[in-house]
Amino acid sequence: MPLRTSIAIDGPAGSGKSTIARMLSAATGLPYLSTGEMYRAIALCVLRAKIDPYDGAAVRKCAVDSRIRAVPDGKGGFRIFCGDEDVTDLLRSAEVGRISSPVAIHLGVRKLMVSLQREIAAANDVIMDGRDIGTVVLKESERKIYLDATVEERARRRLLDFKGIVTSYEEVLKDLKERDMRDSGREVDPLRPADGALIIDTTHMSPQQVVYKILERFCMKAGGASDA
Ligand code: DC
Repeated sequence: MPLRTSIAIDGPAGSGKSTIARMLSAATGLPYLSTGEMYRAIALCVLRAKIDPYDGAAVRKCAVDSRIRAVPDGKGGFRIFCGDEDVTDLLRSAEVGRISSPVAIHLGVRKLMVSLQREIAAANDVIMDGRDIGTVVLKESERKIYLDATVEERARRRLLDFKGIVTSYEEVLKDLKERDMRDSGREVDPLRPADGALIIDTTHMSPQQVVYKILERFCMKAGGASDA
């Protein structure tokens, strides 16, 4: 098995993970997987099946039955499938986002996703973002990043993402605070910076500044060398 190159990015919702991961993917050629989309795909299946997102056994069964998969798209990203259905374009709604946080608290669900994600990282050079990437999924990686920003700034960014959809700043802020509490407060693999992670507060930084800082710290110095 060749050594794989990986970049692990963690941080709370709205901290800029996907923007930065996409820019890093363009800069390095490494494909980008948003592991949050895998939890969102479970949330979609849970919503469709009208399952209680807090019922761990039912959510896990739903995830297994739905055969959630992430498949490289050959263009620097991954498509998310439930069985044979490509659901990638259905995962960004506010409702799916809201349900994805409680479905992700269950040990059985997380074990399933972590195992899929580790298989992907064993087969592909990859940039992954999420909540437990540096601490669990890619804990062997030499390139770990933790992005943060104030909850007010993250709400402002989220509101821009939702442009055109009727929602208020106050609603987005409340939703983010609830998700922060669940993502960081849950028992299994809570969100926290991995040991040795490069921690960046992006509140007052442009995406370009963040990417530059990361490239300077890791890729430029390392010259693109592979890691485990
Ligand atoms: O990054 P996102 O907003 O798309 O993630 C959706 C939810 O999934 C988020 O509330 C937390 C959860 N998640 C997780 O628990 N672990 C991950 N590796 C990725 C996401």
